[in-house]
Amino acid sequence: MNIYELIEKRQSIRKYEQRPIEREKLERVLRAGAMAPTARNEQAHRITAVTDPEVIAKLAPEMPFVATAPCVLAVSFDGDRTMRCGQSARTIDSSISLAYVSLAAVEEGLGGCWLGSFDAENARVLLGLPETATVAALYTLGYPEGDTPRRIKKPAEALYKIR
Ligand SMILES: Cc1cc2nc3c(=O)[nH]c(=O)nc-3n(C[C@H](O)[C@H](O)[C@H](O)COP(=O)(O)O)c2cc1C
Repeated sequence: MNIYELIEKRQSIRKYEQRPIEREKLERVLRAGAMAPTARNEQAHRITAVTDPEVIAKLAPEMPFVATAPCVLAVSFDGDRTMRCGQSARTIDSSISLAYVSLAAVEEGLGGCWLGSFDAENARVLLGLPETATVAALYTLGYPEGDTPRRIKKPAEALYKIR
């Protein structure tokens, strides 16, 4: 698979086979996230891979499919910096890193779903992170079960312009 095929293959996966992710695979995927660019190369975000089903079940109880994932990644940071453009360096770093993870996951035959609709303070406490930490996003990870219908997307041209 080349990078374009990978990008096209990626889709949000919310059904998982009930088997764990091999440690080497998980590490390769996490290493891809660690290779992502960061503002000023600060590399200040962290990804916690949660595999304890009891913790996973409490991370986002309002979305029951999350509890069925064999692994949930939490990307977090402690301290932020607003860049000159007005945006949070750490939120953007965290997002790029998870985007890399999501593509590496496809290469490994895995799939997952980005989660923004969760209680970040609840997740922080569950993960044992300090009060000053922020959990920017969660990402489920597992072997996809069955076929997931693809979401209809706008034509790509509607999302860019060349001028
Ligand atoms: C920032 C962000 C937050 C999201 N939050 C959730 C969420 O809380 N729950 C969920 O089921 N999906 C969530 N998604 C997944 C989107 O619904 C999904 O990416 C979108 O419908 C497009 O489908 P696709 O990923 O299959 O292309 C989120 C995606 C992004 C990028």
